[in-house]
Amino acid sequence: MTSPTPSSSAALSAPLPALERIRADVQAMHAYLVQSSEGLLKLDAMENPYGLPPELQQALGERLGRVAINRYPGTRFNDLKAALARHARLPEGWALMLGNGSDELITLLALCCSRQDGEQPAAMLAPMPSFVMYPLAAHLHHMDFHAVPLRPDFQLDEAAMLAAIESLRPALLWLSHPNNPTGTLWDEAAMARLIEAQGRAGGIAVIDEAYQPFAARTWLDAARQRPAEHAHVLVMRTLSKFGLAGVRVGYLMGDERLISQIDKARPPYNLGSLNIECALFALEHASVFDEQARLIRQERERLQASLHRLPGTRPYPSEGNMVLLRVAPEGAPASEAAAFARCVFEGMKARGVLVRDVSAMHPMLAGCLRLTVGSASDNARMLAALTAALADALNAAIQPA
Ligand SMILES: Cc1ncc(COP(=O)(O)O)c(C=O)c1O
Repeated sequence: MTSPTPSSSAALSAPLPALERIRADVQAMHAYLVQSSEGLLKLDAMENPYGLPPELQQALGERLGRVAINRYPGTRFNDLKAALARHARLPEGWALMLGNGSDELITLLALCCSRQDGEQPAAMLAPMPSFVMYPLAAHLHHMDFHAVPLRPDFQLDEAAMLAAIESLRPALLWLSHPNNPTGTLWDEAAMARLIEAQGRAGGIAVIDEAYQPFAARTWLDAARQRPAEHAHVLVMRTLSKFGLAGVRVGYLMGDERLISQIDKARPPYNLGSLNIECALFALEHASVFDEQARLIRQERERLQASLHRLPGTRPYPSEGNMVLLRVAPEGAPASEAAAFARCVFEGMKARGVLVRDVSAMHPMLAGCLRLTVGSASDNARMLAALTAALADALNAAIQPA
């Protein structure tokens, strides 16, 4: 980044009446934090650690070179929809729409459901802690966001969720399956009962399967087996965790009557031609990415085993490509737990490893770090940095002030 020149810094401090046109609640918001990772081992954002093999890099480069970038994206958009429908084995009677990452789909769903019934804004419900984009989208589109805390083991509090569905009749129920940032795969029977209750309340249930490549099950199986019970259910996925985080392709599947309505709110050319071609190429080589996902699942188990051997920490079970790790002593007051986790986070960063300190995301996460599962060598480096940073943080904690 260049520093502002004297004339531009003077311009920045001058009054700007146009700012008053920006919503006050937007001005009061914090921007989404993308941590700088320059020079660091990046294990903070659940990215796939493996790149494309060199021969595929070359073939992709040649293919992208032939894309007509002077034209708006055309029929290849539909080709990608068809390829994803085959890849996911789209249930009968369902349709699929594309988003510029699933982040865009979350926004579009909030936009489409933000009806105002009299004085009452439409409600959105999600267990929390979960993905931060759900409350953000609700806020930006004037939906009422309701969070039901997870149980201490980070499973769903079914009774509280059922009560919330009955009293709020939310337009949207979000279930991140597995959940970010906890890695939890919800109890199947509890999830089925919540989905059923949401149907009785006349709302939409969205199952966010961003981490599906690493999970033992998918809700699409239930949708295929019991289609009549799933007309109000949407399943959302992304190619980001599959290995294409830079390509920005998310997809939403569900009853074609629902999908066709939501698709109306999508900007017509929301995916670039290069990204479409790249996603098509990746799907043609899906076995390469499947093998990478298998390695990541294997590495996750090895990492979990190593973390269990680290004294004083608690890794939570995970079905994603991340592990939530409580580093602060159990039962410590939230502010002390958060300060301890910060100290470990900074210690790891000083040793060249970037993870995510999630303490501030939710009170239940105070004292926790979220570790992305990397390659075997990434994980070895991360563990070494974590072990050393923990020792330093413990030493600092027992020093008299
Ligand atoms: C649960 C969940 N849903 C959706 C997304 C957004 O993914 P995308 O990269 O497709 O926008 C993420 C990203 O981390 C996520 O954790």
